Amino acid sequence: MCGIVGYVGKQKAASIILEGLKRLEYRGYDSAGLCILQGGQLDVAKKAGRVEVLVKEAARHRFNGTTGIGHTRWATHGGVTDANAHPHISSDGKFALIHNGVIENYAQMKTFLAGKGYTFKSETDTEVLCNLIAYHYAKEPSDSNGTSRFLESVRKALEHVEGTYGIAVLCVDFPGEMVAAREASPLLLGVGDGEYIVASDASALINRTQNVVYLKDGELVYVTAAGFTITTLGQADVSPVVDRITWSIADAERGSHAHFMEKEIFEQPVALENTMRGRFSEDGSTANFGGLNLSAPELRQIDRFMFCACGSAWHACLVAEHLIERYARLPVEVDYASEFRYRNSPLDRNTLFFVMSQSGETIDTLAALREAKRKGYRVLAINNVVGSSIAREADGGVYQHVGPEIGVASTKAFTSQLLLGAMLALYIARLRDMSFNDGVQYVNALKGAPDLVRQALGQAAHIQAIAKRYARYADFLFLGRLSLFPIALEGALKLKEISYIHAEGYPAAEMKHGPIALISEKCPSVFFVPKGEIFNKIVSSMQEIKARKGKIIAIVTEGCELPAGLADEVIPIPDCHEAVLPIVATVPVQLLSYYIAVVLKCDVDKPRNLAKSVTVE
Ligand code: M6R
Repeated sequence: MCGIVGYVGKQKAASIILEGLKRLEYRGYDSAGLCILQGGQLDVAKKAGRVEVLVKEAARHRFNGTTGIGHTRWATHGGVTDANAHPHISSDGKFALIHNGVIENYAQMKTFLAGKGYTFKSETDTEVLCNLIAYHYAKEPSDSNGTSRFLESVRKALEHVEGTYGIAVLCVDFPGEMVAAREASPLLLGVGDGEYIVASDASALINRTQNVVYLKDGELVYVTAAGFTITTLGQADVSPVVDRITWSIADAERGSHAHFMEKEIFEQPVALENTMRGRFSEDGSTANFGGLNLSAPELRQIDRFMFCACGSAWHACLVAEHLIERYARLPVEVDYASEFRYRNSPLDRNTLFFVMSQSGETIDTLAALREAKRKGYRVLAINNVVGSSIAREADGGVYQHVGPEIGVASTKAFTSQLLLGAMLALYIARLRDMSFNDGVQYVNALKGAPDLVRQALGQAAHIQAIAKRYARYADFLFLGRLSLFPIALEGALKLKEISYIHAEGYPAAEMKHGPIALISEKCPSVFFVPKGEIFNKIVSSMQEIKARKGKIIAIVTEGCELPAGLADEVIPIPDCHEAVLPIVATVPVQLLSYYIAVVLKCDVDKPRNLAKSVTVE
């Protein structure tokens, strides 16, 4: 939520910051702004609306300075207005601040600062922090003890902050310098050739450098022309570790695709190959998960799993639950991270706790991880973004390796999470009762997943035609059973998120206990109809819908014969192993939602009210 970029270097800062903001826009797109420190002044351009609106506004300024900060906002405190857009300037005109996060005690600070004569132009918590820095600056003697008065003012202000922040600050008295800090909001420093860029994530700076320092909570970075230093709020010096980003600028660009979501849907076969790469044993009978940092004897002690996540990742955990219980015969509990953190869920010593998160920055999932660790549990993470907060705080885990996912609606990260859940089930099962031969069969099935997904993608034109016929319906049901119930939830979420059509996911047989009341010719149902023991049961559920004039779109395993006329539309998917089925079955619902949103001319990659990574509670 909210994207921040700051630049200190030799080039004109404005164009570099605007470029970074375009890449960060998926984090929030209510307003955008930038501030350039030039000619002894803080020159600000900011507007409600997208970065493209800011680009036009910025063209009216003469931005030549080589130091600046920029922000793209997902509104928390205060409406979507020009005044509430960042950067904010302190009322004495000395400081400019951009912020991602929430200052929880801003109201008390605002009262205090108003009493000292500071004034406010916005309704934001951020402007309060900006003035608090100005207040401490006014109180500080000039540079003392060899430390910068600028840095110390920021540090002193942050000592009083309760909440979360990734910030970057400019001071009019310190041209060519910047202070940035983080607490529970992501922030990294790009170390370029004679230039430094702070940003919420690497996509904002990947076009200038692949060398980055991931800042940790409670750290401040002070950037000057001479270099940078990192210290903690408690004034301890930190030795920076420079990491190298492994993906490239092309991964963060849309290429010839109309939307990132489309690009990411079609990238799934390669993404799945990358997720699996090097992760099967030499004998081809199990998975390798060295990153879990647990030996086989330790894993054999585990008698229960707990998974916490949000949104699509939570759906992926539900599939993992099904597969671990089915193949490894161990109980699994799945909780919303936002619920877990406030419940007092009993965990026992032999419970292995997992969090799952594409971004690794979702605040509820991070808080669940911290709560589990506080209770003394070993916490493992399934996560895509290398160096994210969750990756750094977990005791071990598995990276998804699918490259940056920019579309707000999760697609390739979701199927990769399904794959890792299936691999984890295999890994644990092989440590317990699964035979070598069953393991080999399971591994071969997983290795075949990318090709099966390619086949499922081959239905794109057919699904696009269906989408045109169904885009005007206002309500949908998505119905599936067993491991495809979570995919029904995911299908409904995708449709809601990007097309704003009301949709509900339900277990197919449970539908008759309530949601069937919604059924009429105006509410179509999307059914998952896999081959196997429940085929006839699902057909019965379909009959119940048909009897009430409900339209049916059936996603059917090849080789299954539906009674004539039962489904209005049939989307075939290849027959496959149960561990791969959820992955393959996801593809049609991704495409259906995508094409419906396109027909409705929705902003597919930036749906209203949403942001890619939810870093506020
Ligand atoms: O980055 P995370 O996986 O932790 O994100 C969790 C959810 O916010 C995310 O899956 C969200 O539901 C997506 N918009 C789904 O498409």
